[in-house]
Amino acid sequence: MINVQFAALPARWETYREPLKHAFAKAGLDVNMRLDHTPDQVDYVVYAPNSDLQDFTPYTRCKAVLNLWAGVEKITGNQTLTMPLCRMVDPGLTAGMVEWVTGHVLRYHLDIDRSITVQDRWEPAVPPLAFERPVTMLGLGALGSACAHSLARIGFPVTGWSRSPKDIDGITCLHGDDGLKQALSKAEIVVLLLPDTPATTNILNAETLALLPKGARIINPGRGPLIDDSALLAALDSGQIGHATLDVFRVEPLPADNPYWAHPNVTVTPHIAAETRASTASEVIAENIRRGEAGEPFLNLVNREIGY
Ligand code: NDP
Ligand code: OXD
Repeated sequence: MINVQFAALPARWETYREPLKHAFAKAGLDVNMRLDHTPDQVDYVVYAPNSDLQDFTPYTRCKAVLNLWAGVEKITGNQTLTMPLCRMVDPGLTAGMVEWVTGHVLRYHLDIDRSITVQDRWEPAVPPLAFERPVTMLGLGALGSACAHSLARIGFPVTGWSRSPKDIDGITCLHGDDGLKQALSKAEIVVLLLPDTPATTNILNAETLALLPKGARIINPGRGPLIDDSALLAALDSGQIGHATLDVFRVEPLPADNPYWAHPNVTVTPHIAAETRASTASEVIAENIRRGEAGEPFLNLVNREIGY
């Protein structure tokens, strides 16, 4: 019998209990999943960083912590979490992010707001075609690469930027400091799908925002700290940045007095770009437990040194 501790907000138990049970059975795993195992009896923890469980010291036989979220910035600094940590790569979450990013890119590309808000004049404005609208994706991981593919399929010339060199069919792949400069220099729309790590904090700042063509649009479903907020507000006010759609923030929920709420050229969404989907994510968790039991390498292991 494998003991699995479910440690997330209490409401999540109802969302995940049946899908996980089903996925464990499908993977041939004999699992006792509970909210209240004795810590030193737990083999795996299915984990959300906002759960009450923050001290992993008593989880002495735990073979892995399996995160329900893609982002791990709230956990990588936890010194008590010494066992392997896996982040979430879920086909359902990825599909949701592809839809959200593609929708928001198309909103900018087609100037959909204009058609919605200008309803008193007959003033045709023909947008360029996608192939004339360079888009840059900062981050080419599970989510960034899937979004890049979706945009490239529509016809956008997509440039992607990552930490390590990549070769992805149909995408111009860049890396390093010079790669970032090049990736930003022609981007009319920039999407951020980087993790929040010491190396990515304020990656969009006064200097890098100034590299973009005037009027460029920013879409951030990554994490709030990727953007220097004062620099973005200044760039929005000067017109260097035409508009920003922000899903994630340094403080969430975004405080009522935050200037983003009232800014005419900012759309705020409440961290809803993509959600882990219980049915598909449960299969990923079951597969990782199967691997752990079989002595095979875990999927989606976090590298604590680089923070993602
Ligand atoms: P991955 O770990 O798969 O990909 C991260 C990408 O960022 C990789 O391409 C990586 O490069 C690149 N990267 C990391 N550090 C650097 C750096 N210093 N310089 C350049 N590139 C860097 O993550 P996911 O795609 O799964 O998720 C990305 C982020 O999306 C999550 O960390 C989370 O913050 C956010 N997210 C937001 C959601 C929402 O609802 N708003 C939902 C889910 C996730 P390399 O390929 O070389 O490793
Ligand atoms: C995640 C998120 O990291 O929802 O999964 O932001």
